[in-house]
Amino acid sequence: MAGKLKHVVLAYSGGLDTSVAIPWIKEHYGAEVTTLTVDVGQEGELEDAVERAPINGAREAFLEDAKVTFAEEFLFPALQANCLYQGVYPLSTSLARPLIVRHLVSAALRLGADAVAHGCTGKGNDQVRFDVGVQTLAPHLSIIAPVREWNMNRQDEIAYAREHGLKIHVKPESPYSVDENLWGRSVEGGRLEDPGSAPPEEVFQWTSHPEKWPKVPEDVVVGFSRGAPISLNGRSLEPVDLIQTLNQKAGAHGIGRIDHVEDRVVGIKSRETYECPAAIALVQAHQALEALVLPRDLLSFKGLVDRRFADTVYEGMWYSPLRESLSSFVASTQETVTGQVTLRLFQGTSRVVGRRSPFSLLSHELATYDRTSTFRQEAAEGFIHLFGLANRLAYARRREALTDAEEREALPASGKVSPPTPP
Ligand code: ARG
Repeated sequence: MAGKLKHVVLAYSGGLDTSVAIPWIKEHYGAEVTTLTVDVGQEGELEDAVERAPINGAREAFLEDAKVTFAEEFLFPALQANCLYQGVYPLSTSLARPLIVRHLVSAALRLGADAVAHGCTGKGNDQVRFDVGVQTLAPHLSIIAPVREWNMNRQDEIAYAREHGLKIHVKPESPYSVDENLWGRSVEGGRLEDPGSAPPEEVFQWTSHPEKWPKVPEDVVVGFSRGAPISLNGRSLEPVDLIQTLNQKAGAHGIGRIDHVEDRVVGIKSRETYECPAAIALVQAHQALEALVLPRDLLSFKGLVDRRFADTVYEGMWYSPLRESLSSFVASTQETVTGQVTLRLFQGTSRVVGRRSPFSLLSHELATYDRTSTFRQEAAEGFIHLFGLANRLAYARRREALTDAEEREALPASGKVSPPTPP
């Protein structure tokens, strides 16, 4: 037996890994196990999973509905940072982990437990997010990752479950690993491991097959207030409702499929597929609104912050002074990100076809080519003269240097070709 523990709170999904983990932790650590399931909008039967935990040996089993907090405190702040890891992945799994960690830690403190456990493998990012999060919020807690320790394959796990008389729902052999929440669905493994071949249609559940795509485009108007989406087609919606509704709408048009060769924190490149219809559509709409209301220099600098924000979240550093400061900056840029963006959903893609805001910096008076324009075109000449000054000077010097070198080469005494000397 490994070092003894008293009481372990296990982050439990009800799948094979975390079901087997209940008796395994009891055997290997001599500890009591309480399970905690956090509802972040994953589909599937959570109640059933939670009911099975005590049957399989848990002292108690808790279910927390964290969907509202997830949307308000994690997804929307990330949306305001146009969260896309490596430009494509909206961080659905990455954003849920720190929230689950928060619940895990507070359950452990409430119950006086001395450890927490999770079902992550030793090859992914999620173990990093769990471990770093727990170490940061509650350094006194031990962390167990049974799947990282036990070296069982799926068949071994099923055999172990049988031996221990566990009540599990073993799904028909699926080679895929799936993770799901409000912000998206991630699938990896099986045939997806070959980055050279197209993902089999069976991995997709939220986005419809091209044959089922509607034959006509559908426009959706997304209303934003201070960077947060608040309505669809003029109808006010609570965050969770809004995301779920848009997942349905955009998913029906096949929007949000992502096929990505991704760099994990642990140094592995892997092929991952995602379905994130609402996230993709919302980031697109949000970016379009920012383009309308933020001044050029802020927009450009914010792009750097957005990128760093995505990397920081991906790396499991939600609970860090850096992430907090990045969030403060992003929040301060959202004051004027209010308005409506029209998205056209059609044939697997969404496009921005309109945007409006009371804070729009697009001035018709300045931009128009008709006579009402107030832009002083005569001022442009002087501006351009100075704008290009530094480059004009630099190129003039280069030309002079070249001419000098050519002249030297032309001297009868010079037997060899020498490179131009810098001025
Ligand atoms: N690669 C994604 C991330 O690290 C998703 C990981 C979990 N996905 C899964 N299918 N188990 O955020």
